[in-house]
Amino acid sequence: MLRFGVIGYGYWGPNIVRNLRSLEGCQVVGVCDQSPAARSRIESAHPGIPVYADAKELVGLPDVDAIAVITPVWTHYELAKSALQNGKHVFVEKPFTSTVAQAEELINLAEQKNLKIMVDHTFLFTGAIRKIRKLLNEDVLGNLYYYDSTRVNLGLFQHDCNVIWDLAPHDLSIMNHLLRKDAEAISATGQAHLNGHEDIAFITAYFPDSMIAHVNVNWLSPVKVRTTLIGGEKKMLVWNDLDADEKLKIYDKGVDVKSQEGVYNLLVSYRSGDMWAPKVEQVEALKLELNYFVECIQKDTQPFNGGCAGLKVVRMLEAASESLAKRGALVYL
Ligand SMILES: NC(=O)c1ccc[n+]([C@@H]2O[C@H](COP(=O)([O-])OP(=O)(O)OC[C@H]3O[C@@H](n4cnc5c(N)ncnc54)[C@H](O)[C@@H]3O)[C@@H](O)[C@H]2O)c1
Repeated sequence: MLRFGVIGYGYWGPNIVRNLRSLEGCQVVGVCDQSPAARSRIESAHPGIPVYADAKELVGLPDVDAIAVITPVWTHYELAKSALQNGKHVFVEKPFTSTVAQAEELINLAEQKNLKIMVDHTFLFTGAIRKIRKLLNEDVLGNLYYYDSTRVNLGLFQHDCNVIWDLAPHDLSIMNHLLRKDAEAISATGQAHLNGHEDIAFITAYFPDSMIAHVNVNWLSPVKVRTTLIGGEKKMLVWNDLDADEKLKIYDKGVDVKSQEGVYNLLVSYRSGDMWAPKVEQVEALKLELNYFVECIQKDTQPFNGGCAGLKVVRMLEAASESLAKRGALVYL
């Protein structure tokens, strides 16, 4: 039986506690939040579970095996470090840390102590992403040209980070998981309008072999859009996460070029074939992910969304911030 302590019971924390409690082989032995209002919400939702105001108390308990850190990003490093120093495995929210240096330090500490870190990149466990990965593995799309994602809605404005650090970790972790190539350089532009943090931003990532990715994140959009296009040589894919029935559509559309001469003379033929919507498994991604974390601890295996995957995303976020400050200058990774 793996005993968990959870720190942070704001917006996302309740989902972690609920899912951990639903897993076999896993027990929540304490939940901590520094806010009195959050603590009374824990007490009414989970009577009987010990509630703590100070994370140090929970992290120091000898009967806790793992700590879930579900607090704002600027607190992740200190809380995760203290958990690792106390010999606990760590499940930490995205983005992993505020800086590359912090992420590297935590990875080293976990290695020294033979403890696991898992970064909550929830989307990697959704039916849609698992299906897309399978299609890419089977080379259904062929050589990839681009990845283009739009993640926009009205709010929720964060007071401690900009829209890139809030929303783009989803897209960057998905890209890293699916494309299996590392970006070589990043350029980002954006603008702050209301609270000093950028509320709209456009990130471009350049990959080897002419592959390019673009991510549009925005807290000031009148409508919610969650659409990603992946363009391949053989097929093109549209993932609309807001479509309940047909989240994925594969289009047999593209451009056929018979020869190099054809390119110069624009003698290309446009292919417009069938479209199909593959079945996407309906699963609660967070439950799968937490179950996988428990398995990784029990079997002593490294999770694919461990500290190194989290670090890769933080490195891209740092590069995007540097580029943003220079109005889009290219930053090499
Ligand atoms: N994986 C996802 O899809 C997903 C979705 C939403 C949020 N998140 C991530 O979850 C994290 C939390 O986001 P949120 O929206 O729940 O934030 P939130 O502000 O709603 O909640 C954070 C809670 O942590 C508590 N807290 C902060 N510092 C603390 C400390 N040192 N000790 C004890 N309690 C402390 C606060 O009182 C608050 O109740 C962020 O990193 C965010 O990026 C991930």
